[in-house]
Amino acid sequence: MSPSIRQIHPVFVGEVSGIDIAKPLTPDEVAAIDAGMDRYAVLVFHDQKITDEQQMAFSRSFGSLEDARGGNITKPEDKRLSTGMNDVSNLGRDGQPLARESRVRLFNLGNMLWHSDSSFRAIPAKYSLLSARVVNPTGGNTEFADMRAAYDTLEASTKRQIEDLICEHSLMYSRGSLGMLDFSDDEQVMFRPVRQRLVRTHPVTGRKSLYLSSHAGGIVGMPMAEARILLKDLTEHATQPKFVYSHQWRVWDLVMWDNRQMMHRARRYDESQPRDMRRTTVAGSAATVAQV
Ligand SMILES: [Fe+2]
Repeated sequence: MSPSIRQIHPVFVGEVSGIDIAKPLTPDEVAAIDAGMDRYAVLVFHDQKITDEQQMAFSRSFGSLEDARGGNITKPEDKRLSTGMNDVSNLGRDGQPLARESRVRLFNLGNMLWHSDSSFRAIPAKYSLLSARVVNPTGGNTEFADMRAAYDTLEASTKRQIEDLICEHSLMYSRGSLGMLDFSDDEQVMFRPVRQRLVRTHPVTGRKSLYLSSHAGGIVGMPMAEARILLKDLTEHATQPKFVYSHQWRVWDLVMWDNRQMMHRARRYDESQPRDMRRTTVAGSAATVAQV
């Protein structure tokens, strides 16, 4: 039996049933999910009770896992999860919520800005897969914005203006917008900006989308203030409520999305209580533009 997918938002997002992702997938199941991702860009799976190993195995059905190095400030000895898993919880190694002044916690608040995962890497991520292990009692929805719909509804003159623009992305830009400016020399090297096209074309469907992210902090050849005003304007357009799906988590939900066509953000929640969310990331296959 192949999985079935039901669209649950007027513009995008499919809910998948008839599949157990804890088991190895058949080629037909992989093809059905890939096709669903190309069409809906966000897929929701309920009641998927999986281990980290099973989440990584399911993710590898769609490509190799991204190397997480260079994506955060957590020291190796402070990591809670094994290699291959991205920890997007609010927890330390002791399983307790991080202290209010924890630099890791403050850095992770950047996940509440609209972004596309790993847009700060020269080869940015393809898919992200997020599994809910402990759901916070208050808030903590994840919101998704369809960047294809955002592109389609731009004025023709704006499309012409932005068609060939190249943005500069860095974790220092997204965190800088929160007032975090205290990056060490090593971090400044690790987080040096990369270049990304502002308009992407999906390799399978050929649909164009806006490639925005809070990591974008400049546009090549444009004064910074002018670039940031343009990026803010485009982001405001792209995140209108009609283009946004808000996912309210249940324990053992797994949501996967295509970072090439989506932005997302977490919403605020009660940080005195745990929120254990674990992400795997499928690596992209190519840069969007040559680096310098
Ligand atoms: Fe993210």
